[in-house]
Amino acid sequence: MKFFIDTADVGEIRQAAELGMLDGVTTNPSLVAKTGRVFREVLGEILEVVDGPVSAEVTATDFEGMKREAQDYASMHDNIVIKIPIIEEGLKAIKWCSENGIKTNVTLCFHPLQALMAAKAGASYISPFVGRLDDISTDGMHLITQIRSIYDNYGYDTEILVASIRHPMHVVEAGMIGADVCTIPFKVIQALLKHPLTDSGLARFLEDWKKVPG
Ligand code: G3P
Repeated sequence: MKFFIDTADVGEIRQAAELGMLDGVTTNPSLVAKTGRVFREVLGEILEVVDGPVSAEVTATDFEGMKREAQDYASMHDNIVIKIPIIEEGLKAIKWCSENGIKTNVTLCFHPLQALMAAKAGASYISPFVGRLDDISTDGMHLITQIRSIYDNYGYDTEILVASIRHPMHVVEAGMIGADVCTIPFKVIQALLKHPLTDSGLARFLEDWKKVPG
């Protein structure tokens, strides 16, 4: 399974990259707003730190505008993936990008039919938001199971990128279902390694080591 980090904070991206498990980055307008920085500058720095897919989201909601933004971001680097919302105009933009060799990450997916439409349009990645579904008392991970089945039934190679991850168990379940990618906030990445028995076990080993002569 590939691990992306879901942030526009270059400091977090650097720290995650040092762990040696970072395959890519996803950003969105809200994450960029949190940085208080100019997006193109942030994107340039991210592209220097990570040699993998980096998602940049369009903010236009019409086909022509999305196309313009897609061309503009894609011209920055081969690793750029254009993040496009799953709306009607977005679908046209996904198809256009796919026909023009531009990778896409289709965002704000909350239903298997949206994922199917995205795959039919030629999306490179589909981003189902599991945490936001959980937030409204539905089962976010069930959507991943549904999309996995549909894509496998018909041989779509659109990659399932599990988004809106809130805790480590989302990552475990995504792996069991066979999702291709998890995009994970930095604080959840840090939590992936944590186990109290690891901490207490290490403390005991170090304490016992003091008793070893020499
Ligand atoms: O980047 C898309 C997605 O991961 C957003 O997550 O936590 O805002 O629901 P969240």
